[in-house]
Amino acid sequence: MPISDRLAQLGSGVFARNDRRKADYARRAADPASGLPPLLDLSLGSTDLQPPPEAIAAMAARLGEPASAAYCLHAATAPLREAVAAWAQRRFGTVVDPETEVLLLVGSQEGTAHLPLAVLNPGDAALLLDPYYPSHMGGLHLASARPRLLRLDAAAAWRPDFEQLSPAEWDELALMVLGFPHNPTATTGEQAWVDAAVEKALRHSVVLAHDNPYVDLALDGTAPALLRNPAWRQCGIEFFSFSKSWCLGGYRLAFAIGAEWLITALRQLKGVVDFNQSLALQAGAIAALEQAPHWPERLCAVYRQRRDAMAAALEAVGWPVPLPSMALYLWLPLPPLAADLDSERFCAALLEASGVALTPGHGFGPGGEGWVRLALVHPQAELEAGAARIGRWLASR
Ligand SMILES: Cc1ncc(COP(=O)(O)O)c(C=O)c1O
Repeated sequence: MPISDRLAQLGSGVFARNDRRKADYARRAADPASGLPPLLDLSLGSTDLQPPPEAIAAMAARLGEPASAAYCLHAATAPLREAVAAWAQRRFGTVVDPETEVLLLVGSQEGTAHLPLAVLNPGDAALLLDPYYPSHMGGLHLASARPRLLRLDAAAAWRPDFEQLSPAEWDELALMVLGFPHNPTATTGEQAWVDAAVEKALRHSVVLAHDNPYVDLALDGTAPALLRNPAWRQCGIEFFSFSKSWCLGGYRLAFAIGAEWLITALRQLKGVVDFNQSLALQAGAIAALEQAPHWPERLCAVYRQRRDAMAAALEAVGWPVPLPSMALYLWLPLPPLAADLDSERFCAALLEASGVALTPGHGFGPGGEGWVRLALVHPQAELEAGAARIGRWLASR
């Protein structure tokens, strides 16, 4: 049967293989006779922390309503779009038109993956950070675009150096996708970096997409935002999510704020693809914004403790870790004791020997090779026990 050529480009190979290894390990470990410790999955940014009760109660209260079971067209999303505009004004001091500058999304992953189809023609060039979030690359492949990578460097504290591209190379680009705070390097980043990208976008007529699901999860420094730069309305679109700030990842609630022509384009594209989330879920999102605005601060306090404890525990077993400035992840250079392995083989061997699953950095692009990502998505005691398991494996090598 015919399958499109672009599927072959999607490059989900590393993650698919990691997933298969995890499933295989979990199946074997479920047999008590195996003697294997249970799987400790630290490879996904899917948190164990819980959403605000106000959000869940608001959803539950609306679940039984007939309107919640109906398709939801744009007009019906007005209450959430208005709540989003009010949040943006409180959060960034910028006035946003909820009718023309806000769009609801089924997760920011959906929005960032669809954006290239809405703004690029086949063969157009688009810039990604390397390492990148995988759906940023996937979206370019779906749109038959030409990816161009801007390598981030640990020695430069992951600061993007936009001067790596000549003016002529900038002129060739139609889109650039950034995201600070940055997954996977767990770097908060600086407003000056986003401002520099805005300047390039304006000068070279490039659409700037800023993926910002971690805007509330800076542990050190202040999270940058495209919306803090008054020129956002001329050149850009920013993606926000309820998944990380309010722990609602499974409910697939997110939104974009951006230049009217970009919001219109993405909305037109999405009109072919999906309807909006149920009104019941949207009610939960409104409750999160309005009744639980400080939820992310509580999360940050927990992630900070986990980060500090896990970094100390790993250092104690001989794997010193740079302390990340953003919550949720550690981004670790492969330890010297495993210098013979690449990131995927390291993760496979670690899983087999200890039952701890991490994410191979290579899955985030060539710039992620030599690194692995650890998600702080289990209670501190489990993380520390995981560090001990890792330590035993490293010591045995
Ligand atoms: C950079 C980035 N963008 C988007 C997403 C997905 O967010 P959502 O749940 O809103 O689709 C993630 C999730 O880990 C992410 O790290």
